[in-house]
Order: sequence, then C-alpha cells, then structure tokens
Amino acid sequence: MYGTAWKKDATTSLVELAVQTGFKAIDTANQLIHYQEALVGDALLTLQKKGVAREHLFLQTKFTPTNGQDHRTPYDATANLTTQVTQSMDSSLKHLHTDYVDSYVLHGPYSRGGLGEEDWEVWKAIEALYRSGKTKMIGISNVTATQLNQLCTKAVTKPMVVQNRCYASTGWDKEVRQICDANHVVYQGFSLLTANIHIMNSPVVQNIAKRLGCTAAQVIFRFASQIGMLPLTGTSNTQHMKEDLESDKLQLTPQELGQVETISL
Ligand SMILES: NC(=O)c1ccc[n+]([C@@H]2O[C@H](COP(=O)([O-])OP(=O)(O)OC[C@H]3O[C@@H](n4cnc5c(N)ncnc54)[C@H](OP(=O)(O)O)[C@@H]3O)[C@@H](O)[C@H]2O)c1
Repeated sequence: MYGTAWKKDATTSLVELAVQTGFKAIDTANQLIHYQEALVGDALLTLQKKGVAREHLFLQTKFTPTNGQDHRTPYDATANLTTQVTQSMDSSLKHLHTDYVDSYVLHGPYSRGGLGEEDWEVWKAIEALYRSGKTKMIGISNVTATQLNQLCTKAVTKPMVVQNRCYASTGWDKEVRQICDANHVVYQGFSLLTANIHIMNSPVVQNIAKRLGCTAAQVIFRFASQIGMLPLTGTSNTQHMKEDLESDKLQLTPQELGQVETISL
C-alpha cells in the first residue's frame, strides 16, 4: 500500500507515479498537518483520464480527531463527534472525487489504556458510514492490544483493518497481530523501515539480502508480507517504488522469518 503522508505539494505527482509503477492501494487521511488528501484526489482525476478507473484502486482514508488536527479541521470542531465523523467523510469523498472509499480508519483512539465514551461514539458513527455504503471496510489505527480486544469483543461491526507503527522490539507488534489473526482483521504495518533502521543494518537482514540478491528494505517488506502483514511504504523514489513492489517475488525461508521476527526479543 502506498502511503501519502508528508508528501506536501508532491502528493499529486507521487500518487500518479505510484499507481503507474504498479501500486493499487493508496493510504491518506483528512488531516492537513500530515496529508494532502485533496491532492490525492487531483492525482486520481488525472489517472482516470489515463484509463485507471476508480474501481481498480483501493482507497483508504481516515477520520482524525481534533487532538490530531490543527485549526484546519475538515469538520465543525464544535459539533458533536457523530457530526464530525459524518462531515469529515463527506469532505473526504469530495476530495477524492468518489462516492465511496474502500476503507475508513479511525486515526487513533481518544483514550489511553482502554476505549472511552468518545471512542465508542466515533466508532458507532463509523459503523453507520459502513452501513450506508460510503465505506467498504472500517478500521482503527495506533491501537493497543487491550483497545483492539475491546473493539473486537464489544463492537456491533468489528474492525476489518488495523494500521499500526511496527517496531521489531515488540516482535513486530506481535500481540496486536495475533488479535488481528484471530478476528480476521487485516494488519497494515507502517514505518517498517524508519522505525527499524538498526534492524536493516543487522547481520541477519544483511545476510538474507545477500542470499536473495536484494536490498535490506526489500527483506523487511517481504518479511512483513510473509508473516501476514500488508506493508505500507512511504517512498518518494521511483526506483524504491519498483523495489518495494518487486519484494513480493522474494521468498524468505521459515528459518529466516523466525530469525527476523525475534531479532529484538
Ligand atoms: N496511521 C498513522 O498514524 C500513520 C503514521 C505514519 C505513517 N502512516 C502511513 O504509512 C505510510 C508510510 O509511512 P513511513 O513513511 O513512515 O514508512 P516507511 O516506508 O517506513 O518510510 C519511508 C522511508 O523509507 C524509505 N524507503 C522506502 N522504500 C525504500 C527502499 N526500497 N529502499 C530504501 N529506502 C526506502 C523512504 O526513502 P525514499 O523516499 O528515498 O525511498 C523514506 O525515507 C505513510 O505515508 C502513511 O500513509 C500512518
């Protein structure tokens, strides 16, 4: 999945390039601090003119609560949370020139530890968007194992997607991934490279890269997909886009997967 955070004005050209290079899934958020969702939409219009139909792409965006926004909220920040979610989704659909997204993600819970009243109100609003057909899947990001367990147990519509930062030091978010496996939730890992630079430079990863004739980044991405994750990449480089996609052709052995999975434990 191609991630569009921090691309600023280059968002349009990079999304076009990513899709033309072979990415079919795009991640964004209606959060101007880090993302330019409207510029993702501009790229989609150009791609449509070039024959890439909306239905051939997987579009994911997020509802970002006020604590993750600056003054430029894509909703009335004084309105109740249900209204905020509805307005944010309508704004996203406008930005992306579509009448549905493939996945809609709560950017992060309001509460620490477990889930609080605000989280449940927002989740109910997201469930309503799912029932209305404005999104095909719903999910949550930056979630702990405790919070995900609660959501999977108590929600009327369970999450279908989790998007988390993935550190080798937590067994690559093992606890959360196990809950995802048990509940048929797609686990999307981000910052796989930037959060694990020292792992890329480790002899274990370097030796696998040597054996496969590939880069350390490709080892990490392929490791992630072989253990069941959907990896996100945030590259701005054409060659890296190709390498990130081509990593899917590589095959780590079960022993290598075990070595990387437990490298920091
Ligand atoms: N939900 C959240 O709160 C949240 C938070 C952060 C990110 N995200 C999502 O996750 C996406 C990816 O995050 P990220 O940017 O931190 O991920 P990342 O892919 O770990 O980091 C991107 C960095 O990796 C480098 N890179 C990528 N492929 C490479 C390759 N094949 N070889 C060498 N370097 C490579 C890039 O450099 P080059 O540009 O030089 O290739 C860039 O510096 C974001 O765009 C966003 O959509 C979500």
